Amino acid sequence: MTIDSSKTIPAFYAGQSIFLTGATGFLGKMFVEKILRSCPDVREIFVLMRSKKELSINERLEKILNLPLYDELRKEQVSNLEKIIPISGDVSEKGLGLSVADRQMLIQRVTIIIHAAASVRFNNSIQYAIFVNARSTRDICILAQSMKNLKALVYVGTAFAHVNKTLIEEKVYPPISDWRKVIEMAETLDEHTLNIFTAKCLHYFPNTYIFSKNLSENIVQDYSSFLPCAIVRPSIVGPSLKEPFPGWIDNVYGPVGLYIGGGKGVLRVAYMNKTAYEDMVPVDIVIKAIIVVIWKIGSTTSTTSSTSFVLNCTSLQHMTFEEDINMLFDIIKDEIPFEGTIWTPHTILTDNFILFYILTILLHILPAILIDLILKFSGRRPVLLQLLRKIYVANRAVGYFSTFNWYYSTANGSSLISLIPPENQDTFSFESSDFNRRNYAKDGVIGVKKFVLHEDTNQLDALLAHNKRVYLLVKVIKTIIYIGVLWIICRWIYFYTL
Ligand SMILES: NC(=O)c1ccc[n+]([C@@H]2O[C@H](COP(=O)([O-])OP(=O)(O)OC[C@H]3O[C@@H](n4cnc5c(N)ncnc54)[C@H](OP(=O)(O)O)[C@@H]3O)[C@@H](O)[C@H]2O)c1
Repeated sequence: MTIDSSKTIPAFYAGQSIFLTGATGFLGKMFVEKILRSCPDVREIFVLMRSKKELSINERLEKILNLPLYDELRKEQVSNLEKIIPISGDVSEKGLGLSVADRQMLIQRVTIIIHAAASVRFNNSIQYAIFVNARSTRDICILAQSMKNLKALVYVGTAFAHVNKTLIEEKVYPPISDWRKVIEMAETLDEHTLNIFTAKCLHYFPNTYIFSKNLSENIVQDYSSFLPCAIVRPSIVGPSLKEPFPGWIDNVYGPVGLYIGGGKGVLRVAYMNKTAYEDMVPVDIVIKAIIVVIWKIGSTTSTTSSTSFVLNCTSLQHMTFEEDINMLFDIIKDEIPFEGTIWTPHTILTDNFILFYILTILLHILPAILIDLILKFSGRRPVLLQLLRKIYVANRAVGYFSTFNWYYSTANGSSLISLIPPENQDTFSFESSDFNRRNYAKDGVIGVKKFVLHEDTNQLDALLAHNKRVYLLVKVIKTIIYIGVLWIICRWIYFYTL
């Protein structure tokens, strides 16, 4: 297999018709932006979408294209946005919910497929997870088999699909079970019966998401005898590093929601191992990796091989959860404060279950009941207990991934980067030798503040001064509590020693 490196990456993409699932998601939106900006001669991008919240697929697309993510494209290459063609579908349905006409059109025109749609919820029923994440992958492969001009099919997996291994290599591991039988089981048994069997089915997998993502890898692997397939496995995907601007983020996947809770002083304790590594990779790095993998698969002279090309797309620099949280909280306290801060940002990290539950009662539930009562009696809506319940559920969901360390081989990434033509290195290389973790974290905090929390970033000084007063008040309250406890202990000793 040799790569035809005579073609630059934009030249390879010129005239290609791409079919993308998951286009409305964090990664999908970024992919569309990057490919149109850096490979402007791409022919068209079919994006599989479903209507949602009473918005049709066209209305959803219009709303997405108005996001700040697309500012540069709207300014510089507005006509290129017309290359995005929404296609109605639902990947939880058999055959991806495509109409016969759309299916035919895709078969005739598509040359590249990226399957990124997934339900990333950890608590889906096993039936839904199998349908939306695994069966959809099979149906994408079936569709791809009918495409005469297909150059590449990339499946967006996850770096956490092989939790039973400590070192995860860039290969597809033997299946946990036969995906055909698992899909058949999900199609034939009713949901209630399946729920009863879930624990047995999951075996060592922590949740239905990981189980279904693991199955999908084997589906892709089995179809790679007939199709030019690749699997890209990102770890936790974080805000953009550079493109189209630093700090783009619009979701709270993984630990990001917890960091927001901590930054506002709400999250006082988290179930995490201080010394475990937080494996986060910027979203623009993942998208560049996907684009380069497609170029590699599509430019390789022998297009089919019996095995999928696998790329682990993991962090640029290792950092523990404790180091990361401390750095983020310093930034939030001293430079980029959040609105609505109720306490000094500080979160106790523990992977000791008993301690976690005791601290949750003492530092979350009891103060939340007290504050909610104050809110209720002052005529306002009690919100804290409900918010902390959601944070607790999120913490329990990510807890598994923040208490273990996995190590990844990344040799395929390094060799792929060396193959990128020199004139394309700046635009497409997915390594970053000048990566600075603090600058990245700072841009990420600004991004979260702007695009997730929708807070004003022009009033930072006033907010810093306000938060400093909150922190001072916290100190006063803490001092009163400590003195009170000390006083009770002294009284108690005095009483019993008399
Ligand atoms: N974000 C991460 O940290 C991360 C890490 C590792 C791997 N990944 C993988 O990367 C891929 C993209 O993740 P993401 O972060 O972009 O997730 P996301 O923001 O939650 O987006 C998920 C996408 O899948 C679509 N989708 C879900 N169910 C669907 C259905 N039934 N029919 C049609 N479309 C459906 C969503 O469409 P709607 O907008 O209609 O819901 C959305 O476009 C996933 O395969 C995920 O497993 C993500």
